[in-house]
Amino acid sequence: MNNVFEEAKKILEDIQGININSADELEQFRIKYIGSKGLVKGLFANMKMVANEQKREFGQLVNKVKLTAEEKFNTLKTTLQDTSTTQKQQLDLTLPVNTQLKGSRHPLSIVKNEIIDIFARIGFVVAEGPEIEDDWHNFTALNTPQDHPARDMQDTFYIQQNPIALLRTHTSSAQVRTMDRQKPPIRIICPGRVYRNETISARAHCQFHQVEGLYIDKGVSFADLKQTLLYFAKSFYGQDTKIRLRPSYFPFTEPSAEMDISCFICNGEGCSICKKTGWVEILGCGMVDPAVLTNCNIDPEIYSGYAWGLGIDRTAMLKYKIDDIRLFFENDVRFIRQFASA
Ligand code: DAH
Repeated sequence: MNNVFEEAKKILEDIQGININSADELEQFRIKYIGSKGLVKGLFANMKMVANEQKREFGQLVNKVKLTAEEKFNTLKTTLQDTSTTQKQQLDLTLPVNTQLKGSRHPLSIVKNEIIDIFARIGFVVAEGPEIEDDWHNFTALNTPQDHPARDMQDTFYIQQNPIALLRTHTSSAQVRTMDRQKPPIRIICPGRVYRNETISARAHCQFHQVEGLYIDKGVSFADLKQTLLYFAKSFYGQDTKIRLRPSYFPFTEPSAEMDISCFICNGEGCSICKKTGWVEILGCGMVDPAVLTNCNIDPEIYSGYAWGLGIDRTAMLKYKIDDIRLFFENDVRFIRQFASA
C-alpha cells in the first residue's frame, strides 16, 4: 500500500521538476502524464488497492498530482504556443530591405513642363514633330539651302540608308511642319529631343532638348517678341529678372537676336555662372524670315511672326546648378530623385 503512495509522490515530484522547452516536449509530457493512457489515469486506477481509511488521503494526493500536471501543461501551452505563433508572425529582421525606389520626375521633364505651363497661360499650344527629319524641314525650308554656310553651325547625324533623312538638329523643324498643315494665327511651342554630332563632355552632348516657340499672325512685331520673352523670363526666373537682346544671326530669322537674362544667382553683381558679366544667355530668337513663310505657303505680305528656341538642358543646369550635362542621360536614381516636382 505504501508503494502506491510512494509512486504517486514520485510522479508528483517528477512533474514539478520536469523541464519543458518546446511544444514537442510539452506534447510528450501530456501523453505521459495526462493523456488517456497516462500515469495520472493509472494512479486513479490504484485507488482500488488502497485501504478504505486511506482512500481519502490517497484521493487527495492523486488529485494534487493531476492538478499539478494539468496546471503545468496549461501554463506552458500558452507560452510555448504563443512563441511559436509569434515566431511565425514576427518580421525577419535579417531579410534585406526592399530597395525598390519610387520613381520621380526627371529634372528635364520638370523644366519642360514648367516652360509649357508658362506659355500655355498666354495661349501657346504644344505641337510636336518627328526626331527623324528630312533635309527640307530641318534645313532647306528654314532658309538654309544645301550650300549655306550656316549648316556648319550644326553638326548633323545623317542616316546612311537615306541621303535626305537625318536626326533633327533643332526643334525649329517642328515650326515648318506646323506651318505646313495650319494657317495663321499660329501660336505654338514645340518641346523635344535634338541631336548633333558633338564630342560628349560636361558641357555638350550629342543629344539634348529644346523648346521652340512660334507666333504667326497679322501685324506681329519685334515688340511682341520682346514682351513675350520678358514675361517668360520673369515667370521662370523671378519677377525681378531683366532681359537684354543682342543682335545675332540665324538663317530662319531676320532680324535675329540672342537673349540674356540678368544673372539670377548674383543679381548682376558677377559670379561664375554669368562669368562675371551679370548676364546669362538663355535663348535665340528673331522675326521669322519672309523666305521661311514663303516656303511654308504663308504670304509674308500679309503675315509676320516671331520665333525663339531655347535649350532645356542648359536651362535645367542653370536652374539646379548642375555642372555636367551627362548626368541627365545616366538615369541614376540618386541624381534624379533630388529634384522635387515644381
Ligand atoms: N534653332 C536654333 C538652334 O538650335 C535656336 C533658335 C534660334 C530657334 C532662333 C529659333 C530662333 O526659332 O528664332 O540653335
